[in-house]
Amino acid sequence: MKMRKVVSVIGAGNVGEHTASLLALRGLVDVRMFDLPRRDGEKLIEPVKGKALDIQQMLSALNIDGKVEGFSVSPEGEGYEALEGSDIVVITAGFPRKPGMSREDLLDKNISILSVIAQKIKEYAPEAIVIVVTNPVDLMTYAVYKILGFEKSRVMGMAGVLDSARFKTFISKEIKISPMDVHAYVIGGHGDEMVPLISISNVGGIPLKDMLPREKIQELIKRTQFGGGEIVDLMGTSAYHAPAASIVEMVEAIVTDNKRILPCSVYLEGDVGKYYEAEGLCVGVPVKLGNCGVEEIIKIPMIEEERQMWKRSVESVRKNIAIVEELLNARNTL
Ligand code: NAI
Ligand code: 2OP
Repeated sequence: MKMRKVVSVIGAGNVGEHTASLLALRGLVDVRMFDLPRRDGEKLIEPVKGKALDIQQMLSALNIDGKVEGFSVSPEGEGYEALEGSDIVVITAGFPRKPGMSREDLLDKNISILSVIAQKIKEYAPEAIVIVVTNPVDLMTYAVYKILGFEKSRVMGMAGVLDSARFKTFISKEIKISPMDVHAYVIGGHGDEMVPLISISNVGGIPLKDMLPREKIQELIKRTQFGGGEIVDLMGTSAYHAPAASIVEMVEAIVTDNKRILPCSVYLEGDVGKYYEAEGLCVGVPVKLGNCGVEEIIKIPMIEEERQMWKRSVESVRKNIAIVEELLNARNTL
């Protein structure tokens, strides 16, 4: 009988490897990692198996229970049988941004990778909850949701937790108060038009707008919106520590059924779709996470200025949906 939940992480690069490691360190779940092998002359190198073994040995060193396994897969979709029995699948496979690139520049290449992966999840883990991380994440979440055909509660994109963590970091540093007492949400598309919500942000219950001058708050908003780019410029590739931690927050909320409210990119329709003026799109909104995945989509209040920012953010996602549809149709994945 399977006792522990299984989380499969597809793509064991910077984000995937750190996610697997953090998940294993929490000791809550067993972890399966999937990635491509490579050839070095005649020799087959399988980094994913090495990384899994290394993490497994780290657990032994720290006296933490858990099973970590690595599986080599092919770009065409061979090797995914071990997805069977996964409770959660996290997709981090694909290309990251390099300096000067937008997240949308990754669309074409990453959609072909995710089209194959989504079909394999559908085949081997049809009951799993799926967390999409690959960029451009709102469009990738939409594509994966469409290919999988799962209920919308079981497909979500990670970005808002990361963007909110960045916003909290900047606020905390500015006012010199622990980030644990900073309550702030960033919603919208995971791009430069994302929406840090000031009207509901508070520090220990005191509204942020009463703690900092407007110009300073605007500075923190801008730094948050370009938070991913700041790291790309410094590191030459995109962030992975905070992204991995943000994925772990989501996984833990699901596995422990703790009903946290976290901003996630989800498919919007019906009443909430109308409220958010984003019907038929995946965009970041606050949701309640539990055992079943997205258990509720929260209608967060926005002041007029935020509503205008929100609309621009939604449009930045919507303008690329037709391209996603075309790419999916061209691959016969719908
Ligand atoms: P990376 O290049 O370090 O890792 C990507 C991994 O995917 C590599 O190990 C590669 O071998 C693997 N991969 C490529 N094609 C594959 C295939 N067909 N099947 C299986 N594995 C395959 O990149 P990194 O930094 O880990 O980023 C991964 C993705 O996550 C990027 O698209 C990045 O933009 C995105 N990202 C999204 C964030 C978010 O907030 N949503 C935050 C950080 C990164
Ligand atoms: C980030 O915001 C690249 O989306 C990734 O760090």
